[in-house]
Amino acid sequence: MRTHKCGELNTKHLGESVALCGWVHRRRDHGGVIFIDLRDRTGLVQVVFDPDSPETFKIGESVRSEYVLRVEAVVRDRPQGTVNPNMSTGEIEVLVKNVEVLNESETPPFPLESEIEVNEETRLRYRYIDLRREEMQKKMRLRRDVTRHLRNFLDKEEFFEIETPYLTKATPEGARDYIVPSRTHENAFFALPQSPQLYKQLLMISGMDRYYQVVRCFRDEDLRADRQPEFTQLDIETSFMNEDEIMKLMEEMIRQLFKDIINVELDAEFPVMTYQEAMSRYGSDRPDLRVPLELVDIADEMMDVEFKVFSGPAKDPNGRVVAMKVPGGNELTRKEIDALTKFVGIYGAKGLAYIKVNDRNGGLEGLQSPIVKFAPAEVWEKVLQKTGAQTGDLVFFGADKATVVNEAMGALRVKLGIDRNMLEGEWRPLWVVDFPMFDWDDRGQRWNAIHHPFTAPSCDMDELEANPGVALSRAYDLVLNGLEVGGGSIRINRTDMQQKVFNILGIGEEEAREKFGFLLDALKYGCPPHGGVAFGLDRLVMLMSGSASIRDVIAFPKTQTAACPLIDAPAVVNDAQLRELGIKLRKAPSKEGNESES
Ligand code: AMO
Ligand code: AMP
Repeated sequence: MRTHKCGELNTKHLGESVALCGWVHRRRDHGGVIFIDLRDRTGLVQVVFDPDSPETFKIGESVRSEYVLRVEAVVRDRPQGTVNPNMSTGEIEVLVKNVEVLNESETPPFPLESEIEVNEETRLRYRYIDLRREEMQKKMRLRRDVTRHLRNFLDKEEFFEIETPYLTKATPEGARDYIVPSRTHENAFFALPQSPQLYKQLLMISGMDRYYQVVRCFRDEDLRADRQPEFTQLDIETSFMNEDEIMKLMEEMIRQLFKDIINVELDAEFPVMTYQEAMSRYGSDRPDLRVPLELVDIADEMMDVEFKVFSGPAKDPNGRVVAMKVPGGNELTRKEIDALTKFVGIYGAKGLAYIKVNDRNGGLEGLQSPIVKFAPAEVWEKVLQKTGAQTGDLVFFGADKATVVNEAMGALRVKLGIDRNMLEGEWRPLWVVDFPMFDWDDRGQRWNAIHHPFTAPSCDMDELEANPGVALSRAYDLVLNGLEVGGGSIRINRTDMQQKVFNILGIGEEEAREKFGFLLDALKYGCPPHGGVAFGLDRLVMLMSGSASIRDVIAFPKTQTAACPLIDAPAVVNDAQLRELGIKLRKAPSKEGNESES
């Protein structure tokens, strides 16, 4: 139907007859002449309808935004003074000889100009129109480029792309499963994979050596700007490589990706930081290293002060007391500090104490704060020394259970860094290593796996059993600008060790057999040492495209409530279908499709 794409035309095509297809992006009626910007995936070209050919001119007059046209036209120079340097085709235009309306369009629900803000609900409801916008076309193109680049890299490194099942059994990655009933298995359910973790390990046992897959994962978890219930991983597993070798290869892949696709030179070597250091300095296991602020422990100084808010957590083995210096923070107003206090409240902090350093050499007089009265001058002097605070700075304090302090002060650190324009460097990748194997779940009174339960510990079985709380894992996360973009580990490759980890996690022998019997068996048949990693492809593309939300780099994402407003999913299914599946609802759906008690 067409000889060229709209956005490809330039002065090289002058005088040529071309056939183009596309959408009416904009139509301007300049009295005698009609101009249409015709749009396809490659861009826009200006199409001119001349009144000298009344038939085509009449059609030109009748078309509206988003009509689909096929035009036969001749490429010509734009007249002097009408060249548009902002358009790739801005030096030329095409003069219509023939035009055919391939389809009409109703007025679109929102204009396609990228400058115009449209609410997200509407964009998602009409996603097929939203995706026509230049910005979205660019993001989809970048996603295609990224995926292709990663595939090429791994193909060159002799990885096999192998597909694994979507209809499977629960794979524990810490979220809830999406469950799938089926007609042929009454009372039994498939689960959609939270990741292909166990299949890729089985593939190593199969001698596949190096595997990858661009694969959808499903997790029924609370959503955020960087999380979707179904998302895509670049999933990787290798045999006979240790963690340093895997990290090095993956680093090379990410470095080449950034260089080739967005022309960014990442560090020649990504820094490696232990989990403990990350938590201690940044309150987070995915620190945003662009933010120069750091947490400083001051529990030792606060042990004996009369201010219980500080001395309590200082004495509590599960507590933490920190100070964080904000250079120039003295200028923060009462109102701004109140807003920040509210902000840390979201993370459970009960307050946000602060000291304004009006005069570093002025003793207590030089400090302005609601809390200086609660401790002697020597204590504050030590705090100022430890934080390095100077005249004009402000020091914030957090005191509570360590988990609350880390979350609240870690989030405050990033917020201040961004709000106060303190970011240093544009791209700050790092590896975080030496995660603990387990953390203690107080409510459930049991150990939980920090990564998944197939992650190998750094210690032997006896040490692991004797002291699960201090055991470290052979896991590694890749963090970029405060976002966890990838995570992986060396895996357990022996049945006894795997059994031991299940044990510590409170998974009894019977339950382990029922859930993971296939793995425990497979590990007995010559399982090679192996390990791997999975990258969040959507998150990578989100970062590389500078998008604020993961939804912007997914063609058909789910909303914050995990629904699809475009096709209106999930939806009620009819009785016959349910009967066939052997399912009876505990609550009958109401007429509107909402659930109500029956
Ligand atoms: P993990 O659970 O850390 O590891 O996931 C790997 C990466 O996937 C991305 N990710 C997500 N992206 C969008 N929405 C989500 N809901 C979401 N959850 C995770 C993150 C994360 O770093 N099987 C292991 C990997 C391994 O050990 O090899 C796994 O799935 O970028
Ligand atoms: P109060 O004595 O409760 O009025 O608190 C005095 C100051 O300490 C106020 O600035 C509070 O915001 C702050 N504060 C209270 N609880 C905490 C906490 N857990 N961590 C840090 N600061 C707090």
